Amino acid sequence: MSVLLTGGLGYIGSHTAVELLNANEDVVIIDNLSNSDLSVKEKIKKIVSATREINEINFKVYVGDVRDYKFLNQVFSENKIDSVIHFAGLKAVGESVAKPLAYYDNNLISTINLLEVMKAHGVKNFVFSSSATVYGAAKSMPIYEDFPTGATNPYGRTKLFIEEILKDVYASDNSFNFIILRYFNPIGAHDSGLIGENPNGIPNNLMPYISRVATGKLDCLSVFGNDYNTKDGTGVRDYIHVVDLALGHVCAIKKLKSKCGLKIYNLGTGVGYSVLDIVNAYNKVCGNKVKYKIVARRPGDVDVCYANADKAYKELHWKAERDLENMCKTSYNFEKQQKSGN
Ligand code: NAD
Ligand code: WQD
Repeated sequence: MSVLLTGGLGYIGSHTAVELLNANEDVVIIDNLSNSDLSVKEKIKKIVSATREINEINFKVYVGDVRDYKFLNQVFSENKIDSVIHFAGLKAVGESVAKPLAYYDNNLISTINLLEVMKAHGVKNFVFSSSATVYGAAKSMPIYEDFPTGATNPYGRTKLFIEEILKDVYASDNSFNFIILRYFNPIGAHDSGLIGENPNGIPNNLMPYISRVATGKLDCLSVFGNDYNTKDGTGVRDYIHVVDLALGHVCAIKKLKSKCGLKIYNLGTGVGYSVLDIVNAYNKVCGNKVKYKIVARRPGDVDVCYANADKAYKELHWKAERDLENMCKTSYNFEKQQKSGN
């Protein structure tokens, strides 16, 4: 039986494919390459074949769109799929404000289509990539799963709407098992340096921006505000290594097999670092190449956001283990292997 990863050639999906294959799961990926590259398929194979015989690896990639019902139905007919991890989606907050319909179309329609086809094929195990963004501006820290939700932009609303859709589908048919994973801030890359985060154009997120400054592709990091209510005035986030995050999905797939019903888990470290903490840690790794300047706050940013991840530890037996130095080292190593800043 196989695990289907929609969006499996993307940043988090590719790391998860590696960890699932390492854990002897069979993997099928669907990706429309809107934010990824087919070369990632060979990179995943290369990483896994360093520790497993290549002929033991059961791994397929289909290029296509999750919103295409006929195509999706064919993938389910050709493979014995028993669980799905739904990574596919658009994820840029700013772009979602400019193009809300593209976000509602891609993120919502893909999910509805996927659930329809799963139902038609009797596949009932589903993991969803949600986000800490669904907590909006939380009243206190750390954030627990039962905190009130409320999104502040179209991207966040797609995540909230999908969570509600999953709850409704579960209420109508409780033979489904749904695990909603709310990721905090994924950063870092695979130790091999073969896969990592490589956004098109100027990065919106902190870590890819820092990596491009450290490698000379961009001049200087703009730190968005130093007057937040934090120890050094810069924003604080819960940065989690993408490999730890990927391993969280392997635990979620195991949990689904115990017929868990609908569950929600934060995947974070429980520790908050400021922007300047990240710059300083990165500078230790790259030899002080990250220049920065303080600029105005970015609209919509909250001062602090970090998880309580005890529920995932208790119920999924999962805990983030990689430290900030490792996150910076692997990001830098990956970025050095990318030719240009696109
Ligand atoms: P990514 O853009 O690297 O990966 C998404 C993949 O989905 C891409 O390869 C893209 O080509 C593919 N895709 C998009 N729409 C598709 C469609 N309709 N059909 C088929 N393939 C499609 O993003 P990521 O960082 O790996 O994020 C994965 C998921 O996790 C997303 O749903 C994202 O919203 C969520 N998430 C990401 C973060 C983050 O900071 N990276 C944080 C919280 C949640
Ligand atoms: C982190 C910190 C910035 C860039 C976003 C999404 C969220 C989730 C993860 C998907 C903040 C500061 C950033 C820069 C800076 N994605 N910063 N200069 O905003 O916490 O979360 O990604 O679900 O939904 O909103 O992440 O990396 O953009 O910012 O000073 O050039 O770095 O102000 O304090 P964020 P980020």
